[in-house]
Amino acid sequence: MNIIVAIADNYAIGKSGDLLCYLPDDLKHFKALTTGATVVMGKKTFFSLPRRPLPNRRNIVLTRDVSFTHEGVDVAHSIEELTSTLTPEEKVFIIGGGEVYRQFMPLAKELHITHIHHTWEDADTFFPEIDTSIWQRLNEEFHEADERHAYAFTFATYVRK
Ligand SMILES: NC(=O)c1ccc[n+]([C@@H]2O[C@H](COP(=O)([O-])OP(=O)(O)OC[C@H]3O[C@@H](n4cnc5c(N)ncnc54)[C@H](OP(=O)(O)O)[C@@H]3O)[C@@H](O)[C@H]2O)c1
Repeated sequence: MNIIVAIADNYAIGKSGDLLCYLPDDLKHFKALTTGATVVMGKKTFFSLPRRPLPNRRNIVLTRDVSFTHEGVDVAHSIEELTSTLTPEEKVFIIGGGEVYRQFMPLAKELHITHIHHTWEDADTFFPEIDTSIWQRLNEEFHEADERHAYAFTFATYVRK
């Protein structure tokens, strides 16, 4: 399993049920990596998506609510139920949010992190610490802030050591 997330310098990832900022080239990067794959998300993240389900991807929503259904979405009520519905050929991305990332960190093989070079003091949702004794940072690509991007950011991939 892969995790994909955009994290601020203070590990913040969200505020009031929404993202901290919109970076068009990061959304493009997210789309390029996840299209054709399976995306897994908590119910709060699902309802935060402007367009849901995400097109051209198998969408799986995690919820403990057994009555929840939504057109075009598969539902799992626990991590065990989720893993039992996945096939070995499927490429899986965990796409949030905070509660879900925390549970999947021990299961993830790769982290695709967009490091946003800014700090939001008023955030309410955070990513768990990336322990550098476990995770090795591989390639990275830096993007300057510009007229379309309020903050500079870096795409980085981490694999288990
Ligand atoms: N920066 C980023 O890249 C990024 C990415 C995604 C999301 N976000 C942000 O993160 C925030 C949302 O995160 P969040 O932590 O509040 O919520 P979340 O993780 O998106 O969803 C939590 C919900 O998922 C369900 N859930 C979680 N673990 C489960 C399990 N093991 N089995 C069954 N259901 C499970 C529960 O739904 P029920 O209550 O229905 O049982 C729970 O209330 C938003 O601000 C969003 O914008 C940021």
